[in-house]
Amino acid sequence: MSNKMWGGRFAEAPDAIMEEINASIGFDQRLYRQDIAGSKAHATMLAATGILTQTDRDAILAGLDEVLAEIEGGQFKFSRALEDIHMNVESRLREKIGDAAGRLHTARSRNDQVATDFRLYVRDYIDTLVGQVRGLQLALVDRAEDEAETIMPGFTHLQNAQPVTFGHHLLAYVEMLGRDAGRLEDARKRLNENPLGSAALAGTPYPIDRTMTTEALGFDRPTANSLDAVSDRDFILETLAAASICAMHLSRFAEEMVIWSSAQFGFVKLSDKFTTGSSIMPQKRNPDAAELVRAKIGRILGALTSLLVVMKGLPLAYSKDMQEDKEVAFDALDALSLSLAAMTGMVKDMMPNRERMHASASAGFSTATDVADWLVRELNIPFRDAHHITGQIVSLAEQKNCGLEGLTIEDFKLIDHRIDSRIHKVITVEASVAARKSYGGTAPANVLEQAARWKSALTGEQHEARALKARKHGGHGDGGVE
Ligand code: ARG
Repeated sequence: MSNKMWGGRFAEAPDAIMEEINASIGFDQRLYRQDIAGSKAHATMLAATGILTQTDRDAILAGLDEVLAEIEGGQFKFSRALEDIHMNVESRLREKIGDAAGRLHTARSRNDQVATDFRLYVRDYIDTLVGQVRGLQLALVDRAEDEAETIMPGFTHLQNAQPVTFGHHLLAYVEMLGRDAGRLEDARKRLNENPLGSAALAGTPYPIDRTMTTEALGFDRPTANSLDAVSDRDFILETLAAASICAMHLSRFAEEMVIWSSAQFGFVKLSDKFTTGSSIMPQKRNPDAAELVRAKIGRILGALTSLLVVMKGLPLAYSKDMQEDKEVAFDALDALSLSLAAMTGMVKDMMPNRERMHASASAGFSTATDVADWLVRELNIPFRDAHHITGQIVSLAEQKNCGLEGLTIEDFKLIDHRIDSRIHKVITVEASVAARKSYGGTAPANVLEQAARWKSALTGEQHEARALKARKHGGHGDGGVE
């Protein structure tokens, strides 16, 4: 009646509630590929070091392949009584190959096993996410090129501030996403150490070769402290921190999509594919996808918070508390992945309304700074005074109920007689954005330059990623950790 895997000293089976609170198979079955790849690397190493016979190794490897095929074919029956993915796989292996299966767990523990599996899983997920981030960047760069000359209002405090180009606005997100990809890649570098062989917490007396499993599983090096290795979850915390920042960026962008697509703004129209209708108001087109992307940060940051709280105050080494790492992490990574996909779709499909943006950019005296700058540049007036004079010009336009371009040269001279007709050239929104050629500024020429820089960086990276993938497939025969 007691557990077959560890129940030697137990007379009774666990209570039903115990089984329910203890089991992780409901969610950790996701780790099956990593678990089997780890077991294959371990068995191969055990045989190479003489801990396991070649015959047992061959039986184990062949059996594990069969188990993998069963899981992938959907025939595998996961059992809650067997708690987790590790014991589910091993128990099925035993049914298939008999006693040799019992030797697989020599010189390891579920503690180093789960640390290994989860690292491999997160590593793969990071690669997926980085690829998605790069895809979204590329979509944004494409749109930025088309919209390099499109003029929209730039905001501070969500008030019209100065005209900017829509392409420049889109490229701002390309920069943010570039840092997001960098943070994920950075987390991956520290993550890529092999805990396998740390055993339960203290290492093992068997003459194992950790370099061998390290190479087989594509890790950079073995972890150097067994206590740390089985109780460390920094790798997922770092990934969730990077994911939270990325989700925050997506949330800001999503919010802009929501605002821009409202009737009041009308800057962009979102496609049918990424909006929904209302069951009562026939005219409606709701930006649901953008709204949901705006919200996903909640659960992603929630996962980071939840896991930090789980880990705080835990004594070394492994405690079962740490089993709480996976559900929230899976949910958060899935949410980010889905958000990136939805955002990419929306960006590719969105239809900007250039006329609306242009009209809105001209409103609110948005080129007042250009007037002040002209007074400084052409009339050598100190900026503070120029600022004051321009304020009076704005006030006059307000009284006359027109924009700055509606003022005549006589109007300008009324405020300051030194002003001449050249002023008319600088108060257009076109002149305003074209003038902002300082590095990183909004001028259309800059946008095209930055877009080109990103494009070559991103397409170069895609080539590299494909080449790396091809090499990985060639190098690691079992491909189990792809
Ligand atoms: N299911 C466990 C987890 O996810 C695996 C490790 C169990 N280790 C143990 N000593 N009970 O953390």
